[in-house]
Amino acid sequence: MRTPLLSLSGVHMAFGGIVAVQNLSVDVMPGTVHALIGPNGAGKTTLLNCISRFYTPQQGAIVLNTTSGAHDMLACSAHQIARLGVARTFQNLELFAELTVFDNVLIARSTAMHASLAEVLFGLPRHRREERAERQYTEQLLETAGLAEHARTVVRDLPYGTQKLVELARAMAIEPTLMLLDEPAAGMNNREVQALGVTLKKLQASSGATLLLIEHSMPLVMSISDTITVMHNGAFLAQGTPREIEKDPAVVQAYLGGGKSGKRR
Ligand SMILES: Nc1ncnc2c1ncn2[C@@H]1O[C@H](COP(=O)(O)OP(=O)(O)OP(=O)(O)O)[C@@H](O)[C@H]1O
Ligand SMILES: [Mg+2]
Repeated sequence: MRTPLLSLSGVHMAFGGIVAVQNLSVDVMPGTVHALIGPNGAGKTTLLNCISRFYTPQQGAIVLNTTSGAHDMLACSAHQIARLGVARTFQNLELFAELTVFDNVLIARSTAMHASLAEVLFGLPRHRREERAERQYTEQLLETAGLAEHARTVVRDLPYGTQKLVELARAMAIEPTLMLLDEPAAGMNNREVQALGVTLKKLQASSGATLLLIEHSMPLVMSISDTITVMHNGAFLAQGTPREIEKDPAVVQAYLGGGKSGKRR
């Protein structure tokens, strides 16, 4: 059997009396699109925050298996996790609104991979040497992400759906092994969601990255996922292919009985 890229076992995370993630075990296989779905409050973002080390779970293990070996992610800082090739996007945008699309992606790449932010901003020698290659890489990434025409546009002036794509390109800029996506389609219209699906597939094909995707848009999840894990009230509910999950009675019941619809926005 193949080794999972990411292996979560018995992850447990509570906030005071609220158990957000309950004894959850999931394996994410390399090179796949793995979706994490579930009704509002299921614990999806909390789990992602445990993986990216924004939170530390009270129990459980999170292991990343890369070519350099098995890494205990709970022993790593958020910074070390990024160095291991784990990137993430946020449920809410975290961009430099006053900078262009190009500069947002270039800064993400330069700061994560080589020079310090000061070196980038003040053009210090080490940065200058690398700059040409970085600029070319950024142009190419924007092309793949469908953002080439917006490269010189200030982020603040772009529609929300396009800003979400910029955030995606920023995360891809570090050439991640594992990409954690928290609701990349939120706030997008149907046309934008469809385009996002194509872009995600393209980015994955060109980078070889594994995608762990939290998403409420079922058309997107169903069209691009290899595996879907369903969470409900913090716990594991089901896992399977899109076809298996679509007709799983427990999943249907969780969404219908959850009170809140899976399609929230
Ligand atoms: N920092 C926190 N402090 C206290 N409770 C929290 C915190 N973060 C999350 N929770 C609670 O943990 C539970 C899971 O929340 P989480 O945000 O992980 O759900 P989610 O599946 O991402 O939901 P959504 O689909 O609405 O984004 C919820 O009951 C939430 O209120
Ligand atoms: Mg969430």
